[in-house]
Amino acid sequence: MTQRIERYLDEKKSCVENTLKELMPEPSGLAADVIKAMNYTLFSGGKRIRPILCIAGAEAVHGDADNLVRFACSLEFIHSYSLIHDDLPIVDNDDFRRGRPTNHKVFGEAMALLAGDGLLTMAFNVIARFGIEKGIGNTEMLRVIDMIGYASGYQGMVGGQAVDISYEGKDPDPNVVNFIHTHKTGALIAASVTTGAILGGGNEDEINSLNQYGQNIGLAFQIADDILNVEGEKNITGKEVGSDASRGKITYPYVFGIEESKKIQRGLIDRAINEIAVFSNSAWPLRDLARYIIERDK
Ligand code: IPE
Ligand code: IPE
Ligand code: MG
Ligand code: MG
Repeated sequence: MTQRIERYLDEKKSCVENTLKELMPEPSGLAADVIKAMNYTLFSGGKRIRPILCIAGAEAVHGDADNLVRFACSLEFIHSYSLIHDDLPIVDNDDFRRGRPTNHKVFGEAMALLAGDGLLTMAFNVIARFGIEKGIGNTEMLRVIDMIGYASGYQGMVGGQAVDISYEGKDPDPNVVNFIHTHKTGALIAASVTTGAILGGGNEDEINSLNQYGQNIGLAFQIADDILNVEGEKNITGKEVGSDASRGKITYPYVFGIEESKKIQRGLIDRAINEIAVFSNSAWPLRDLARYIIERDK
């Protein structure tokens, strides 16, 4: 990773981190336990890729990215919820994430389930308040709410997660793995960059190109996650290695092998960068991020 993208990621990450702290209350009152569980996963060292992509999407279309950081944070709320539920014993049954015990290991399954529910629903409060406070137009707001609901629900992440679970232990199938990955991970990543472009005031061509970029890097991102589950190091990824194979998950390495998966990944990144070729220098972070996504070690 080049120094400039490292600096960019550090800078945006701390901005997202500060805004998340403003948005998320300290645990207090009778419901303190669930707030504690929500905080635990929200502040446990995530890369913050989705909000950063949203900010970078707005910058690419010369929008006022500083103005939409609160909105961008809603994507991290949804992502955090998805990780808590993904790790539950009845889903992936994982004990470690980001080098720490998973939410249910610390707070119990019922509280982890509720912490996930709390984060998901709070995302929509965060979005609505952003719209009200910044006086964003109704059409733009409804469009991004629709997009995020779609990308997170059965047409997107939830649908992908459902197929991920129902195809455990089945034979390798290219169509199935493509469906799982584009839905469980690609959809929210694409929505992150696309909503940034919408709120940044991009025109329809720009929004479409950035959406295509997002779909391509989103799939590549999940292939990287699969590869790290085979070749990664637990002390760097903070997650168990080899768990996909032991659970019979339909992954890219399982369907295509490691080398072919890496080739597919590179093709997706080339396509993503090509989709945003018409953008000026304002899209350099997106170009560098596309490469970072497949070079990352965590
Ligand atoms: C992990 O996502 C789960 C997937 C959808 C692949 P990230 O790799 O973005 O996780 P954190 O938030 O940085 O830990
Ligand atoms: C996670 O996919 C996707 C979502 C949480 C929506 P994985 O189950 O492959 O991700 P990790 O490896 O546990 O982070
Ligand atoms: Mg999973
Ligand atoms: Mg998992």
